[in-house]
Amino acid sequence: MRIVHLSDLHVTADPSHPNNRNTAALVKHLWLNVSKDTVIVMTGDLTDNGFQEEYDNLLWLFRLLIVEQQQNHMIPPILAAPGNHDYALFGNFFDVDAVGRFRKAYNELVLNITPIENPWGVRCSIVSGCAFIGIDTADPEDEEWFADGYISPKQLDYLNTVLKACSEQRCVVVYFHHHPFFRGLGQELINADKLMQLLIEHQVDIVLFGHKHRSEAWFNYEGIKVMLASGRVTEPKGDALQFREIEIGKNGYVGHTVVEIPAYRPLEWRKADDGAVAQLGARLPCTQEDAGSNPASSNFVTID
Ligand SMILES: [Fe+2]
Repeated sequence: MRIVHLSDLHVTADPSHPNNRNTAALVKHLWLNVSKDTVIVMTGDLTDNGFQEEYDNLLWLFRLLIVEQQQNHMIPPILAAPGNHDYALFGNFFDVDAVGRFRKAYNELVLNITPIENPWGVRCSIVSGCAFIGIDTADPEDEEWFADGYISPKQLDYLNTVLKACSEQRCVVVYFHHHPFFRGLGQELINADKLMQLLIEHQVDIVLFGHKHRSEAWFNYEGIKVMLASGRVTEPKGDALQFREIEIGKNGYVGHTVVEIPAYRPLEWRKADDGAVAQLGARLPCTQEDAGSNPASSNFVTID
């Protein structure tokens, strides 16, 4: 089983915007290459401002995968947690209607997965013996903490219950948008310490998040096998878009790779250098030796 981790697409209302073009490139790649035992997990900021036109474009861009799910009943499951930009103009000016727009789009994206229980703030889905627990850290009840993210005591209580219920699953994956520890000024989830305490206490296998648009990985952090922060997957690094694929074996996390695919380039850029672009598609290894184990250290894997 594999997990594809996408984050911070920032789909806009302008269909020709590079974010939308690159989302189309990612979806096409996944549609052509992803196998049936893959789960796509998106950690927020699917849209740039939470506008209806942006959600319409998001669903249009994902239509290949949505139709694939409808016709094949399981290929490939998509899961998503909201980010601050999904509920707010520029990620900061909260719009209560955007919450409804996200949920409606979510219900169209996430098909054929039955949550074991789903009060909105914490949602758990079981896929092939793995628990995927999504948390809404852009909790609309706590909009004063909006851009930094917030996990409420109610969510923490429920998360504790869900983690206990999932203790026998072969792998527990927890995903959300904001940072569970300090990553720069103003970039730590409110109540991050309480969230980390729970994740460590239950020794979850994999933690996925986004928000800072900077890709990093931390291994064996107080018993958590791996914590992965995605960059903005629609932002090209040179000529390539990058995202991670995580491999799950019968005993949980096995390893992960960074996948590169050609980014969208305006027609005038596509010249004689197409040969170099064709070489993209390589998988870059990420090994234990590449990374530190302490999020506070600067010794981490970066793919920026
Ligand atoms: Fe973002």
